[in-house]
Amino acid sequence: MWPKLNWLSLFVIFYSITEILSRVEFTNIKCDCVDKEYCAVDQCYLKSINRTYKYLSIKVNLLKPLVTNVMVNGAMLKRANGYKPFLYNITIDFCRFMKYRRSNPVALYALGLLGTNTNLNHSCPYHGVMFVDKLPTSFINHQITEILPFPEGDYMLEYRFSSENINRAVFQVYGTLS
Ligand SMILES: *[C@@H]1O[C@H](CO)[C@@H](O)[C@H](O)[C@H]1NC(C)=O
Ligand SMILES: *[C@@H]1O[C@H](CO)[C@@H](O)[C@H](O)[C@H]1NC(C)=O
Ligand SMILES: *[C@@H]1O[C@H](CO)[C@@H](O)[C@H](O)[C@H]1NC(C)=O
Repeated sequence: MWPKLNWLSLFVIFYSITEILSRVEFTNIKCDCVDKEYCAVDQCYLKSINRTYKYLSIKVNLLKPLVTNVMVNGAMLKRANGYKPFLYNITIDFCRFMKYRRSNPVALYALGLLGTNTNLNHSCPYHGVMFVDKLPTSFINHQITEILPFPEGDYMLEYRFSSENINRAVFQVYGTLS
């Protein structure tokens, strides 16, 4: 038996689906190897193929192997007279996290956003070229909008990699929620 659906509930279902598909628009991505002896950015871009297919690609060459002692600070910022901290600001020991992923559900969630076209999904050490290849923004959208009822606005996700308390690399992803 089909469940009983009236026009109103059909409308609500349809509206929720279109809303999920249209809520986040990725607008920019920036990758900066602050320490030029630590890494080099080979690729970092967002590309629109057509109205529904947009992807991001990042390729970073690690000049020094990443073995241990790497901290990642992930923060969310919302624009209001410049970007201001919003809700999340989390620092993790990257290698420890990659080994014991369940230790941090929020970081695990963020890792999941990278999808499967990446060679980041393993534990330390890391060396050579690290990439996230042609990750469809629709994939990220789907994951984000499913759980996050955030207010409209311009947002930025920022990931800072550091070791020995020195900033090594910064990645920023910009998007608009409407
Ligand atoms: C957008 O491009 C993708 C990949 O080329 C294609 O599969 C898809 O059908 C296109 N969508 C539209 C609406 O043209
Ligand atoms: C997040 O917290 C760290 C440590 O308190 C701070 O240095 C950093 O500036 C914060 N990031 C943002 C975006 O506010
Ligand atoms: C990442 O690796 C873990 C363990 O090897 C696996 O369970 C998980 O499905 C992988 N995730 C992705 C997105 O490939």
